[in-house]
Amino acid sequence: MMANLKEKKLKALVTGASRGIGAAIVSELEAQDIEVVTPSRNILNLGDPISIQEYIAREKSLGIDILINNAGVNFLNDITEINDEDWQSMIQINLTAVMQLIRGFSPYMKQQKWGRIINISSIFSIVTKESRATYSTTKAGLNGLTRSAAVELSPYEILVNSVCPGYVQTDLTMANNSPEQLTEIASIIPIKRLAQPAEIAKLVGFLSSKENTYMTGQTLVIDGGFTCR
Ligand SMILES: NC(=O)c1ccc[n+]([C@@H]2O[C@H](COP(=O)([O-])OP(=O)(O)OC[C@H]3O[C@@H](n4cnc5c(N)ncnc54)[C@H](OP(=O)(O)O)[C@@H]3O)[C@@H](O)[C@H]2O)c1
Repeated sequence: MMANLKEKKLKALVTGASRGIGAAIVSELEAQDIEVVTPSRNILNLGDPISIQEYIAREKSLGIDILINNAGVNFLNDITEINDEDWQSMIQINLTAVMQLIRGFSPYMKQQKWGRIINISSIFSIVTKESRATYSTTKAGLNGLTRSAAVELSPYEILVNSVCPGYVQTDLTMANNSPEQLTEIASIIPIKRLAQPAEIAKLVGFLSSKENTYMTGQTLVIDGGFTCR
């Protein structure tokens, strides 16, 4: 373990922090007195491998202790009409970019023998629904990446987990479901409502903290009981 861990002010990088779950994660980490770096899409465009490469080259000396891979997109496509451009773009943003950021920022964590990585996956990595083939593929891949990274990085006290939210009240959910569909969805969630972003952020806050000392490689579902039915 990092010798001065108790005293050290931790630094986190959160992607997709402009709104929704990412913004809530920033508030949660800041409440824990963690310094948070939140590059906007102009600075770190996850759809562009060159932008990612340049960002890492510029910022790897930032000393990131906690990496939260939150940004994600969900372009709906029916299976018979999957648009190749959407497929490639979603694989890049939701999956490849996460690998690239872990590859870029984990060497510092290895060197200091402490780190936390949280990948925001989805219940659609485990169950699915019409028009979500590409999204489900990227999120299932993310769970595999989480497990592999956890196995390799655990000896350095770098704990890696996936968080799988159910339906959360964010722009993404509003864009992909009509108000009528959301009423119907809320009625079948055992808790009878969508999640608030802050409820997801609480779990991410624990997994990122010094309090989490033994949980790694896991796919943690937080969905109000939706997938239990
Ligand atoms: N909402 C849900 O119900 C739900 C459920 C399960 C999982 N999730 C997952 O949770 C994460 C956050 O979802 P959300 O609902 O909070 O999404 P959101 O409200 O749509 O916000 C998405 C965030 O990702 C950023 N982003 C998108 N494409 C990017 C790119 N190419 N480069 C850099 N940043 C990019 C956006 O930045 P801009 O401001 O620049 O657009 C924004 O900050 C996603 O991974 C999503 O798949 C969400």
